Amino acid sequence: MDRILSGIQPTTDGFHLGNWLGAIRNWVGFQEKAECYYCIVDLHALTVRPPAKVLRRNVFGMAVSLLAVGIDPERSALFVQSRIPEHAELCWILDCFTQLGDLNRMTQFKDKAQQNEKNVNAGLFTYPVLQTADIVLYKATHVPVGEDQEQHLELAREIVRRFHHHYGDLFPEPKVIRSEAPRVLGLDGKTKMSKSRDNFIGVTEDPDTILRKLRSAVTDPRRLRRKDPGRPEVCNIYSLHGFFSGSEERAEIAEGCRTAGIGCVDCKKRLHANLTTVTEPIRERAEALKACPSRVWDVLEEGRRRASTTARATMAEVRERLGIGEGGS
Ligand code: TRP
Ligand code: SF4
Repeated sequence: MDRILSGIQPTTDGFHLGNWLGAIRNWVGFQEKAECYYCIVDLHALTVRPPAKVLRRNVFGMAVSLLAVGIDPERSALFVQSRIPEHAELCWILDCFTQLGDLNRMTQFKDKAQQNEKNVNAGLFTYPVLQTADIVLYKATHVPVGEDQEQHLELAREIVRRFHHHYGDLFPEPKVIRSEAPRVLGLDGKTKMSKSRDNFIGVTEDPDTILRKLRSAVTDPRRLRRKDPGRPEVCNIYSLHGFFSGSEERAEIAEGCRTAGIGCVDCKKRLHANLTTVTEPIRERAEALKACPSRVWDVLEEGRRRASTTARATMAEVRERLGIGEGGS
């Protein structure tokens, strides 16, 4: 059986439709056929130095969201990275198998360094090494990630190969599972949906908030008046219908849009109805979990226990190979 590991940063109020459709929905599906480890990566989040309270709240919120969309703690290990000290230990070790030249090529590092010139810390630089540790600590064979993480996975494989070259084979070379879902654009219709651009719909947002956001969402810019014919193929609202509306309804909307038979307001209302049919049960589950925080922390503790068993076994092997830690006669 394959072993899957993926990580997600703890962000405020869980994730948005883009994260869900692009990645997390697949995480749920993998549980059917693989042994899954899902990690909330709070150590990675420290690179931006969030206030302690904010970080803890975000970890909790992310756990709630993951459970609400169907991550099943009976089947998967859902855990918080910092609760397993082996991540940081292995990260240091793998640092010694990572060339500066390789880290320097990472486009995400370059982007982040540029976005925040005042805080270009070493954690940001070695971020992909910690990510590699996350993966190989569980000897994961497959890692589902978005396009933006493929370079990090390529580096992870390189680090694994270098470790093997010096100390013998120990880890699977992790393979990328590419998400099939197309990129989900934000409400501006131009850039990828993201929290930082504030162009998102949260998976656990309430129907009123979602309606308000849809109202101001960009449509076909050439459709200035109700009687102007529209072009569904350039309209992001139409592409969102693709995820939530049936094919017959979509065909009808496309036709109506081209002939000005349907207005954008109604088109958005129909999207809203179909979208909230999907998101309302998720939001309700999230509300129930938020009302019972100890249950969520218990789930994470159980995940920690499971993850820890694997992590400790791997670290024992790593230490043995390297000639560190206990033993030696
Ligand atoms: N770097 C990933 C991101 O920003 C999150 C992550 C951390 C991750 N560790 C991982 C993803 C391990 C996959 C495997 O999206
Ligand atoms: Fe977009 Fe719908 Fe308006 Fe057409 S009718 S432009 S698909 S929002």
